[in-house]
Amino acid sequence: MTEKLSRNDKIDPWGSMKIEDYSKVIAKFGISPFSNVIKKVPTPHKFMLRNIIYGHRDFGRVANAIANKKKFVMLTGLMPSGKFHFGHKMIADQIIYYQQMGAEVYICVADIEAYATRGLSMKEIEKLAIEEYLLNYIALGINPEKCHFYFQSKGNSRYQTLSKMIAKHVTFNELKAIYGTDSLTPGKIVSALTQVADILYPQMEQGSCPTVVPVGTDQDPHIRLTRDIASRFKEFKFMAPSSTYNKFMSGLQGGKMSSSKPESYIALTDTPNAARKKVMRALTGGRETLEEQKKKGGQPHKCAIYELYTYHLMDEDSELKNVYDDCIAGKLMCGDDKKHCAELIVKFLEKHQEKRERARKDVCKFIKV
Ligand code: TRP
Repeated sequence: MTEKLSRNDKIDPWGSMKIEDYSKVIAKFGISPFSNVIKKVPTPHKFMLRNIIYGHRDFGRVANAIANKKKFVMLTGLMPSGKFHFGHKMIADQIIYYQQMGAEVYICVADIEAYATRGLSMKEIEKLAIEEYLLNYIALGINPEKCHFYFQSKGNSRYQTLSKMIAKHVTFNELKAIYGTDSLTPGKIVSALTQVADILYPQMEQGSCPTVVPVGTDQDPHIRLTRDIASRFKEFKFMAPSSTYNKFMSGLQGGKMSSSKPESYIALTDTPNAARKKVMRALTGGRETLEEQKKKGGQPHKCAIYELYTYHLMDEDSELKNVYDDCIAGKLMCGDDKKHCAELIVKFLEKHQEKRERARKDVCKFIKV
């Protein structure tokens, strides 16, 4: 069962929620639509132009820093859990973008959080972080030498101290109001406070400066908590962090893309053949019969294939528009479209997997820090 936003007013970052209507999220949680800031962004990412990054908090100050070539930070935390799939690639794409925009990039492995909430051993978590995340990051084009990188469990002493000091600046009632009371365990509280430290720590090193955290909507409670806590420190001057919110891709069969359902995603380590099969079995916006499809046209907005194109496989807007137009005009049939998509995926994976093997020699460049 997926949780509907209307059930209560809380987002559970450890739960599984499928959001149907992003405009409701914007209205309910005070997230600003990205459309109100995009004009300030010098060279917007395709996710911004395609409304995949649909919302933000205070992104204007980050856009200004980019435009004026001022110092700013981008940071993210990765929670190793299962296979690295195209949903995870979205954050990697954004890391690369901000690296190109001149950000000081911070990446942490949320091993403390994974230990507390995912039932994995520290050893398993470390292995997953390297094999699934770091190798894929490098293969996708993240420059490991231009990142500040750490594991939550091994961050330096200033970071560890900050992560303990945060507890003083928040009350239990606030935590209950943000995360709900049903399942707020000590492990989740530690994870939340550690994440606040992840987000504020870069400003201890870099000084007070705009900081952007690109996340999925599920992480917004942590962002709100951090923004509240930032101003309460007397000993450090923290600027409230900014955030952007990206939509999540749907599962290939509809519903949620989920690490526990291999048929719902394509992993970047899936064999090209397995990936081709998943594409051929994906849910499209096609009609019941060929006849009907020719008459009424397909429905790209309900189609996992069109989503793959939009999020990952087609950078050119004109190419995307051609598919869209042909689909709704009833000229493009799902079978042909799937074959085309499968070819693109296979080509991508073959190249990517070669790069991933070559990345092994560079992985130490992350770890050295
Ligand atoms: N909680 C995040 C997740 O579940 C991981 C994370 C840890 C994180 N620290 C962070 C994300 C800091 C963004 C910023 O994926």
